[in-house]
Amino acid sequence: MSLTPKQFAVIGHPINHSLSPHIHLLFAKQFDLPIIYEREDIDREHLLVRLADFQGKDYLGLNVTLPLKHDAYLLCQKLSEKAQLCESVNTISIKNNKLHGDTTDGIGLIKDLTNKGINLSQASCLLVGAGGAANGVMADLIECLPSKLYLTNRTIEKSMLMESYWKNFAKKHSVLLKVSDIHGADSCHYDVIINATSAGFSSDKSPIEDKMINRETFCYDMTYGRETPFMRQAIKIHAKTFDGLGMLVEQAAESFHIWHNKRPKTNNIRNELQLLGLI
Ligand code: ATR
Repeated sequence: MSLTPKQFAVIGHPINHSLSPHIHLLFAKQFDLPIIYEREDIDREHLLVRLADFQGKDYLGLNVTLPLKHDAYLLCQKLSEKAQLCESVNTISIKNNKLHGDTTDGIGLIKDLTNKGINLSQASCLLVGAGGAANGVMADLIECLPSKLYLTNRTIEKSMLMESYWKNFAKKHSVLLKVSDIHGADSCHYDVIINATSAGFSSDKSPIEDKMINRETFCYDMTYGRETPFMRQAIKIHAKTFDGLGMLVEQAAESFHIWHNKRPKTNNIRNELQLLGLI
């Protein structure tokens, strides 16, 4: 008996280079699930109308990427607790003609850190950036119970706003949340530094100073598909350095689980994407 393929898509702008269709097709192959997974270029202006189109057709789910995650949060009819907290949606399930929004970015990051042997519990952690990407992983970062979670950003006022937004959630988990100077003036030691800025696309300079990193620091860049100045800086200092491809794969696996109630294996996906010539 052949099953009718279920339909999915990733939406964003630009979207040409998204690896999500390939990753979801590799996951589906593990279970012999017939799926159709497309890319749709949608800008913010057209999101409302295009979401209604998807609801009218036979789509079961959508992944949402830049710059639509906050708009998708505003437009979903139902939201998971985490999506509500992070004000961000990267996974939409279409059920009974309603859009259910969830976010799997934070859990994707934490799963990838865990895969790499990085334990945030009791660690001193610095999160660089104060935009959607940084706020989208805050709830999961705090739930890992680092001893200290420092926030920094080129525009430091945004880190201060972020601190005041997350203060109560951090307090509830007994996590010390503090704003740190982006030039390292407060000379803290960080066990883990996570770059959640988009600086890798717009600048040839790392957003932080060399003195904030040492050989023992785990340096994680949420960017994938390119070596960023932050990664080059960390490699030069001989710090352990990682890109964000693993996070992309793990957040996709969480979306897949939400839609299909099945947990795909993720450990070989990087190799499979390489074999396909996609990375
Ligand atoms: P995203 O959804 O990817 O987080 P965003 O909300 O536009 O996108 O946020 C981009 C983040 O990258 C911000 O923290 C931004 O810093 P500012 O708040 O000062 O703008 C940061 N960023 C972008 N380009 C940067 C650069 N060249 N150097 C340092 N930080 C940069």
